[in-house]
Amino acid sequence: MARHLITSAIPYINGIKHLGNLVGSQLPADLYARYQRGRGNEVLFLCATDEHGTPAELAAAKAGKPVADYCAEMHEVQARIAQGFRLSFDHFGRSSSPQNHRLTQHFAGRLAEAGLIREVTEKQMYSRADGRFLPDRYIEGTCPNCGFESARGDQCDNCTKQLDPVDLINPRSTISGSTDLEQRETKHLYLRQSTMRQQLQDWIDSKTDWPILTTSIARKWLNDGDGLQDRGITRDLDWGIPVRKGDQDWPGMEGKVFYVWFDAPIEYIACGAEWAEANGLDAPAWERWWRTDKGASDVTYTQFMGKDNVPFHTLSFPATILGSGEPWKLVDYIKSFNYLNYDGGQFSTSRGRGVFMDQALDILPADYWRWWLLSHAPESSDAEFTWENFQASVNKDLADVLGNFVSRITKFCRAKFGEAVPEGGAWGEQETALIETLTARIRTYEALMDAMEVRKSAQELRAIWVLGNEYLQSAAPWVTIKEDPERAAMQTRLGLNLIRLYAVLSAPFIPDASAAMLAALHSDDAAWPEGDLGAWLGALPADHTFTVPEVLFGKITDEQREDWQTRFAGIRT
Ligand code: MF3
Ligand code: ZN
Repeated sequence: MARHLITSAIPYINGIKHLGNLVGSQLPADLYARYQRGRGNEVLFLCATDEHGTPAELAAAKAGKPVADYCAEMHEVQARIAQGFRLSFDHFGRSSSPQNHRLTQHFAGRLAEAGLIREVTEKQMYSRADGRFLPDRYIEGTCPNCGFESARGDQCDNCTKQLDPVDLINPRSTISGSTDLEQRETKHLYLRQSTMRQQLQDWIDSKTDWPILTTSIARKWLNDGDGLQDRGITRDLDWGIPVRKGDQDWPGMEGKVFYVWFDAPIEYIACGAEWAEANGLDAPAWERWWRTDKGASDVTYTQFMGKDNVPFHTLSFPATILGSGEPWKLVDYIKSFNYLNYDGGQFSTSRGRGVFMDQALDILPADYWRWWLLSHAPESSDAEFTWENFQASVNKDLADVLGNFVSRITKFCRAKFGEAVPEGGAWGEQETALIETLTARIRTYEALMDAMEVRKSAQELRAIWVLGNEYLQSAAPWVTIKEDPERAAMQTRLGLNLIRLYAVLSAPFIPDASAAMLAALHSDDAAWPEGDLGAWLGALPADHTFTVPEVLFGKITDEQREDWQTRFAGIRT
């Protein structure tokens, strides 16, 4: 049994994520986790909320709540929506957990001992009106690069250039709007990742099987000079993980916290500790996933994320891990995604444009979204959501192909043989040929899923559904039954067993429909079709009862589509 550690980029706490966020990390990670479990492998699938930094503080202020309360509430909201989408995390943690506090401080201490941290006295923007420093998003001004007037202190939203607050032209506080700012000296810690360039280069070079999207971004940052500069890992903020060296004070760093991008990836590990605690397990239980000296050397660790997250996962976080000199598990494979656009523009959280996860579930069940998003995952390039395309996929793939197959065969059986599997003789020539074709396609499907080729896997699965329909169409048990009832019974028995096959193979994509199919078949045997498929398709024997299920997938009407199109054309308020 192989062991798979799987993490999804942890979503920011400030607000509900949109479908573009979902398809860029959590959903494909869930697909892979469900698939690996389906193959009988051992999986630990972790995700969490990313709760520190200025976005969290600003969102809490806007909501008029203390930031800790705001984060606790939003964590519950995100957890509930994740459940709505059937994201099968083994644990959904919080980067503000005590476990992450301890571990982040531990890593900082190790990095300091290894000489990888330097203390820098630098000038930061200070607001006299607000009585505080203004890091990152607490300050806005004109971008020195492109002239955009609302560039944030850490990055320009218009030209994407990473910025330093002191570079902004005409800076102002986003708290009070005050322009009464000055530069004041303050001390910060920098991670000396530039000293690790060669080590990181060699590590990336060894990853010859990684997606081009991942390695090209990593290489660009390694070679562009800009990317691997030493990085400030502390901030003058109240909310965050206090700067400490392991369990000791860090003289001169009182009142400061670690930068959110330092502690967030460490939460992947801390989340393992949270998982163990939540399940009454001891430290070795999570360390066997995360420490190569404690059993994790045979673990395969896969990370899922959008392309904007790649530099942090290919350079900064590995620098933290390697720099610690401790045997923590490094990522084995990084699956990254391009962006999903929305109806001719971009999804945007700040502007409320697109469909957000809660709204999506208000109008349709999770499987509809999961199928469309995964079968259109932005892998080789950016992808676009349009309501027409969504309607067409749902109606064709889910309703006409899969749903129709299930309903036809179960209803036919009920009408002619009753709600139990009929006997019939052995498979004939047509069935043997079908089983052969199916076997080949299932092996292809497995290979694509193993390789995390999300779109291609969806296409292959759909092709497997189509085979069932084609078989039914040409075997035509409703015709056969007139001359050869015995043969019609056999065909029907195969059809019913094919439903079980579809339930098992489709579970990673559409878990609810899969469960509904198995329930209709009165079966809880979801074992993967390994080995001889002909035998596997005999699992539902004669006389095994079933119930004709409710319609699996309703069609999206033109009226619904138009209604949603207008409803989601504007911005969310
Ligand atoms: N919250 C970040 C985002 O949504 C992702 C953080 S991933 C981690 O872009 F590695 F930092 F955990
Ligand atoms: Zn700019």
